[in-house]
Amino acid sequence: MIALACDHGGYELMQTVKENLDKRNQKYKDFGTYTSESCDYPEIAVRAARAISSGECDKGIFICGTGAGMSMTANKIRGIRAAVCSDVYTAEMIRRHNDANVLALGARILPPELAIEIVGVFLDTGFDGGRHGRRVEMINALDEK
Ligand code: RB5
Repeated sequence: MIALACDHGGYELMQTVKENLDKRNQKYKDFGTYTSESCDYPEIAVRAARAISSGECDKGIFICGTGAGMSMTANKIRGIRAAVCSDVYTAEMIRRHNDANVLALGARILPPELAIEIVGVFLDTGFDGGRHGRRVEMINALDEK
């Protein structure tokens, strides 16, 4: 189950992402926003991030204007490893090396076709483990009690 979160800046791109997830038969839970009216991205990101942290969802796709606010908020939540991606290589590596569980996208930066390609790579790429597992554990150990 994929947790989806966007603000007004990411709303339109999120509709395209949802169409693509439907084509892939990928299940998702949409935490909003549900219109293009201005809203506060931390409120939405935290709800979706907590659903990943609790195990209700496995991964997330969070979209705002730049991806920055969404990723900053998500990374405050225990167990979240969110990264902003604007290219396919980074999308592959945040899965292989960092076991990222949230992909943050900037709707004001990315052409929709590239965003969809990045989503596909994020969803289809596994974690390499090995020495990268040790490093991810080091990140996880930094979660504040
Ligand atoms: C909203 O205007 C914009 O600040 C937001 O979408 C995001 O880019 C913040 O990081």
